Amino acid sequence: MGKINTIGVLTSGGDAPGMNVAIRAITRTAIYEGWKVQAIYRGFEGLINDEICNFTTESVSNIIQRGGTILKTARSNEFRTFEGRQKAYDNLKKHEIDALIVIGGNGSLAGALEFAHEFDVPCIGLPGTIDNDLYGTDNTIGYDTALNTIVSAVDKIRDTATSHDRIFFVEVMGRDAGFLCLNSAIAAGAEAAIIPEDQTGIDQLKQFIGRGIRKSKNSSIVLVSESPKTGGAMHYADRVRTEYPEYDVRVTILGYLQRGGTPSAVDRILASRLGVAAIEALKEGQRNVMIGVKNDQIVYVPFYKAIKKDKPIDPELINVLGILSI
Ligand code: F6P
Repeated sequence: MGKINTIGVLTSGGDAPGMNVAIRAITRTAIYEGWKVQAIYRGFEGLINDEICNFTTESVSNIIQRGGTILKTARSNEFRTFEGRQKAYDNLKKHEIDALIVIGGNGSLAGALEFAHEFDVPCIGLPGTIDNDLYGTDNTIGYDTALNTIVSAVDKIRDTATSHDRIFFVEVMGRDAGFLCLNSAIAAGAEAAIIPEDQTGIDQLKQFIGRGIRKSKNSSIVLVSESPKTGGAMHYADRVRTEYPEYDVRVTILGYLQRGGTPSAVDRILASRLGVAAIEALKEGQRNVMIGVKNDQIVYVPFYKAIKKDKPIDPELINVLGILSI
């Protein structure tokens, strides 16, 4: 790999709290190393449309506490085409960018992998998504903040659920991954979590009602992953209304509030470590790897593994929820 003088940095896909912390860490570490930083706005879309400007250390002042991404983000359809990626490459050359750092989720790292192979561009990925669905890292940037947001929302729902003796189905994000759902269910003391990874084939609603939920408790909260594999919270509420009409049931879909808010301390530390490590990785000549943290150690995960391999749910967590929700 040739000598690096200038890096490009972008955020892509769904925004996640802590992305700004990562932008700050990358910018400051690169400048510390004597490199220039070109900030690319609106993800790959901005690379195609030449929305690029030079960043200084001051450009990233006062952003550590802000949710969202100051670089803005997009899901670019044009980048899925070869013509789009060619335009992106031309702009990279125009701004003399020697290596690209992409902060985003699965789709963003898949885009980076294709681009890196086609145009021989050194790319480094940082896992930035509330879903925590990237293989090879224990946590992704934004996941902890989203968990805390869900838990504080469920605490509030519990007040009204208890007052009215109702069953609440609360739908949470996570795409096809159940990390947010299962862990927020444990942390919020929910009665059950319906997650897409469940392979038992057991009817999860029947199982929940069958556990005699109303015998010992007057109200219950069930968290449901948004995935089509579960059918979502509405699906379960409709089933209760027809199959168990004796129960008073309500639904809350938490939606996009899960993506906002000031990043937690855990996310800030994670994003700071990953941002510094991204520059270290480039210095070492690494390319086409996602930086992760596994067992509290920085790790380099090849892009193809991070995006292709399924990150398993720990069965112990399912057991913990099952025991504690009796
Ligand atoms: O990947 C993050 C995420 O918030 C998912 O949990 C959710 O399914 C999706 O993005 C929503 O995407 P969009 O912002 O495109 O509606």
